[in-house]
Amino acid sequence: MHVLVAVASRHGSTREIADAVAETLRDAGHTTDVLDPEDVEELAHDAVVLGSSVYVGRWSAGARAFADRLAVLRDGRPVWLFSSGPVGRRPVPADDPEEVPSLVERLGARGHRTFAGRLDRGGLGLAERAVVSLVKAPQGDFRAWDDVRTWAEGIARDLHEDEIRSLRSGPLPRA
Ligand SMILES: Cc1cc2nc3c(=O)[nH]c(=O)nc-3n(C[C@H](O)[C@H](O)[C@H](O)COP(=O)(O)O)c2cc1C
Repeated sequence: MHVLVAVASRHGSTREIADAVAETLRDAGHTTDVLDPEDVEELAHDAVVLGSSVYVGRWSAGARAFADRLAVLRDGRPVWLFSSGPVGRRPVPADDPEEVPSLVERLGARGHRTFAGRLDRGGLGLAERAVVSLVKAPQGDFRAWDDVRTWAEGIARDLHEDEIRSLRSGPLPRA
């Protein structure tokens, strides 16, 4: 299947998670486009994975705007969501971004997953550094690549099952 991996990333670490998702999907025989949500002009894909980095408890505005478009455009296409943000050995914050439950419902998403992120003070702006100091957020790269790949393998399997079902019974099931 042809899968759109749309990802909003301010400092690049969530984009690298999206690249790993796409690579895993390709290894399983699917084709992918990885795009910033703001660069998606049309939905010429069979399925969508949409991810966003999380800042001050929220998805990026670009990812939220794309989710609004997707709710109208998706026409039953399967959708998966991911967030990336929590940092530290015991990831903090532990809560999902506030819009996630309503996004899952509106998009009929088959799943949402939060992955740990990366915090590198050197790459931050002044205001960002101030927030990070205030909450004493730990620096480092906490991304768990095995978790990312395992999650994407599950998506790849689901899509293959959809393909098999559609071969047996005609058009793809659109929820
Ligand atoms: C100013 C600031 C605020 C942040 N707020 C949150 C937050 O509320 N929740 C969270 O999980 N992560 C938060 N993070 C961590 C980032 O989401 C994390 O560093 C992420 O990996 C950044 O992704 P990006 O490189 O794709 O922009 C914050 C980071 C910064 C610098």
